[in-house]
Amino acid sequence: TITAQAGLRTDLGGQRISVVTADPTSPDNPWLDRAFAIFTETTGITVNKIPGETSATDRLQNYRQQFAAQSTDIDVYQVDVIWPGIVAEFAVPLQDTLGDLAALQFPALVQNNTIDGNLVAMPWYTDAGLLYYRTDLLEKYGFANPPATWDELQQQAQAIQDGERAGRPDLVGFVFQGNAYEGLTCNGLEWQVSHGGGTIVDAESGEVTVNNPQAIAAFERARSWVGTIAPQAVTTYDEPASLASWVTGATAFMRNWPYAFAASQDPANSTVAGMVGVTSLPMGTGEGARNAAALGGWNMMVSRFSQAQDAALEFVKFMCSPELQKSFMLDRSHSATIATTYDDPQVIEQAPFFASLKDVFQGGAVARPSSVSGDLYGEVSSSYFQQLNAVLSGSRPAAEAAAQMQSDIESILSGD
Ligand code: GLC
Repeated sequence: TITAQAGLRTDLGGQRISVVTADPTSPDNPWLDRAFAIFTETTGITVNKIPGETSATDRLQNYRQQFAAQSTDIDVYQVDVIWPGIVAEFAVPLQDTLGDLAALQFPALVQNNTIDGNLVAMPWYTDAGLLYYRTDLLEKYGFANPPATWDELQQQAQAIQDGERAGRPDLVGFVFQGNAYEGLTCNGLEWQVSHGGGTIVDAESGEVTVNNPQAIAAFERARSWVGTIAPQAVTTYDEPASLASWVTGATAFMRNWPYAFAASQDPANSTVAGMVGVTSLPMGTGEGARNAAALGGWNMMVSRFSQAQDAALEFVKFMCSPELQKSFMLDRSHSATIATTYDDPQVIEQAPFFASLKDVFQGGAVARPSSVSGDLYGEVSSSYFQQLNAVLSGSRPAAEAAAQMQSDIESILSGD
């Protein structure tokens, strides 16, 4: 479904740019190859695809090395929604050259990506944490609806696991991202916000709030899943590991991002195609309990060290255009950052959860404390996910971990 927009430059033909986008195992690679080929056909600019790391944490480390070396090897970087404060000084500002495209984008994302008045990266797709469930298994066990609360999720997951294990000993109730990396920060934030436990660092006041009883209760609940409804190995799972369990039919529920929808509805790579339900992540308990989806997503940044900046800008203009975003949503279920795409009849028909969860995608997701932490966000998140991983693994009580997060993050943010 990829079509190039009208009006791309053709006077840069013969130039070559190197871009870091998906990791090599991503199911998006065939789509990306096709998109890059169409870009080359249209503009004459050739694209060298450099594989990126799977883990956002590893990827940031690699990018930091490239920037420190003032590397001219990479012209365009795919950057995470939590990184604008970290990458700003290495980015070509986009507001003047790509202002028209920026005007179509969700204003909150443009604001997120604007540092000291400069748009450092163009929104490409947005992410929100979702709950995937097996429609066939819910029906088989008499659950009329997917779980609305974590308590219900626990009951349903346990009942399905108990019932299915006779025929399939490896079946588990629930998988998520429990490894010690950025993905666990997203899961943990969802657990604590859904229990009224705050957002780690308060976005308004800048105060570190993570050490509170509701966050601790949320961490304890997550700990109780490991080895019961979730496999012990979930403490090493990232998104691809969770998806692998899901597409082989080995789990009843999965927490993952929208891309998992297209991946699991593809019969060539999934045994659960046609049995995939998607809904909001469950609500917790306690004062202020709510549904909570972490805000994720990726943006395109042109490197200040690029020696082909015009060609790189043209590439960003193409990849983040309404045309390509619609195609990415239809073919790969990556949620667009342009509001009108959600009302497109084709999108509504092929991925109905985008319409039913429109509020989540259009501003309802919960941001990690990246804006308030600026270029220290990487360290903040690292303390959080390491402590939380220790809780899940059973090596640290939740209350102790929360106290440690609190003091670590306070000293990181105060520059000690
Ligand atoms: C997804 C999100 C990104 C997040 C990452 C964590 O790629 O889009 O924002 O940091 O997952 O694993």
